Amino acid sequence: MAEHGESKAGGDPENRPTRIAHVGIAVRSLDEVLPFYTGALGLRVDEVLELPERGLRVAMVPCGESILELMEPLGQDSQIGSFLDKRGPGIHHICLEVDDIDRKLEDLDAAGVALVSKQAEIGAEGCPVAFIHPRSTGGVLLELLEER
Ligand code: CO
Repeated sequence: MAEHGESKAGGDPENRPTRIAHVGIAVRSLDEVLPFYTGALGLRVDEVLELPERGLRVAMVPCGESILELMEPLGQDSQIGSFLDKRGPGIHHICLEVDDIDRKLEDLDAAGVALVSKQAEIGAEGCPVAFIHPRSTGGVLLELLEER
């Protein structure tokens, strides 16, 4: 029996997440929220991406070794729009960087972790990403990302 919640399965220390790559925050309006981040907090917006195929407009706001990704719904059929309707504005997901996402997904799957999909896809950052279902993580949607 492992102590302190540590589990051997999927927990290869060689392939542990190395940092919080970004935090995804769902907002109703970038225009309304960005002045707080750029003004009061003094961060800068690196870029604003429109991703109509994902129903999403994202403002990338770097903060140290991580990024705050402020996500605004775009168009009718938007996942972020449904999230906002259901949960209201707030943290949508947390993204952890891993060195080898394919191997990590295999390990997690073998450990019985609830994966949203078992294969990585190319995400907004142009890198392979995959999501772990909140029911396996203590209630937060966790994204994995491999920098390439
Ligand atoms: Co993300």
